[in-house]
Amino acid sequence: MSGAVDPLALLTAYQQSAVLSAAVLSGVADALAEEVAGSHGPDAVGAGKTVEEVALGAGSDPRATRILLSALVALGLATRVDGLQAGAPVDAGTRFALSEAGAPLASDHPQTLAWIVRKEWFFYGVWNELPAAIEDGRARIAPWRRRLDDDRATAFGFLRALDDLAARFGGELAEAAAELLPAPADPYEDAPAPGDASAPGDASAPGDASAPGDAPAPGDAPAGGRPVASGPLRLLDVGGGAGSHAARLAGLRRDVRPTVLDLPELQPLLSERHGGLPFVAGDLAAARFGRPEGERWEVVLLANILHDHPPADCARLVHEAAGLLAPGGTLLLYDWIPDADTAAPDLPLFAVMMMVENDGGDAYSEAEHRAWLEAAGLTEIELRRGYGPIAVVAARAAADTT
Ligand SMILES: C[S@@+](CC[C@H](N)C(=O)[O-])C[C@H]1O[C@@H](n2cnc3c(N)ncnc32)[C@H](O)[C@@H]1O
Repeated sequence: MSGAVDPLALLTAYQQSAVLSAAVLSGVADALAEEVAGSHGPDAVGAGKTVEEVALGAGSDPRATRILLSALVALGLATRVDGLQAGAPVDAGTRFALSEAGAPLASDHPQTLAWIVRKEWFFYGVWNELPAAIEDGRARIAPWRRRLDDDRATAFGFLRALDDLAARFGGELAEAAAELLPAPADPYEDAPAPGDASAPGDASAPGDASAPGDAPAPGDAPAGGRPVASGPLRLLDVGGGAGSHAARLAGLRRDVRPTVLDLPELQPLLSERHGGLPFVAGDLAAARFGRPEGERWEVVLLANILHDHPPADCARLVHEAAGLLAPGGTLLLYDWIPDADTAAPDLPLFAVMMMVENDGGDAYSEAEHRAWLEAAGLTEIELRRGYGPIAVVAARAAADTT
């Protein structure tokens, strides 16, 4: 990309991002989207609203609102109902509406970006301290536990944003993961219900590995080469947050029975976002994440966890996760794993984000992931890419040979 880079354009890109964010945070986007007589919801350009009406709805300053609205039009996030360009003069009768692209800025839009915008706005403040973080190599946000204690609203907002991102981008990750798991004992369990991302609420008790009597033996290789599960796959989503990825996977694979493990403070958020999923309190820092000795899971998922930790902790987390697997069980990792063949900036920028957000955080290479998995005694390591910047990795525990 180097030939086309314009450092000055990069330098001022924050302005566009700030205008978009301000539309959400000031309430202007919601005021624009609000139903008014003659308007038909957030997508309607219909009647639109005057500057005065928007300012009244948002409780914002009319002059500042006028300036913001023209900038939103210039960015294509709003339109003028008179069809004129962003630079045309605005008078008391000029009406504005969110454009189709801008409609998700409204908080009641079905694909709202509002939580994601709030998350990024929080990080604006953090990135202000990037030069200092580069100087001393230290993160600029408190460790997660303290974030939950000191400012739970922001921590929950962050996880709501991750859940909304998973709703947009998590489907492909779930499809890849579903293919990497052992094939379902009952092939009908594999049939994805389009758009159905909800998970079945029932969790069989952990450790209860009873399988339907006529299921194929675990490890049996069907025609496709995949082992066949001996029954339902109990999945522990470690650091599962709002339950986003467990829910999507269970929506695709009806034989997957997820349970979310996270810090106890997270339970209300799981109830809010994916209330059907069982929750267990646990701790990434504890042996077996706090789960009792002897408990085994057919699948353990670490989604977006390793990048928050320094390498030695990653090795330990993978080791603990592997220790929770039933014989032949699968460890799934979803993570930002740089691809040597791509020049896209997402991964290197994400690594910067991790560095400034978590002490020792980073985006780790495929080789590092493989080394942690192998050190934990796992084999059949398979990595799939092509779902945006996040890769899906599966690795298998040894089958029980006794
Ligand atoms: C980056 S979020 C990932 C959430 C989710 N897996 C996802 O992909 O959307 C990190 C998660 O780890 C959890 N977490 C952080 N420290 C933890 C700890 N010591 N024990 C258990 N969970 C923890 C957080 O509560 C949060 O849900």
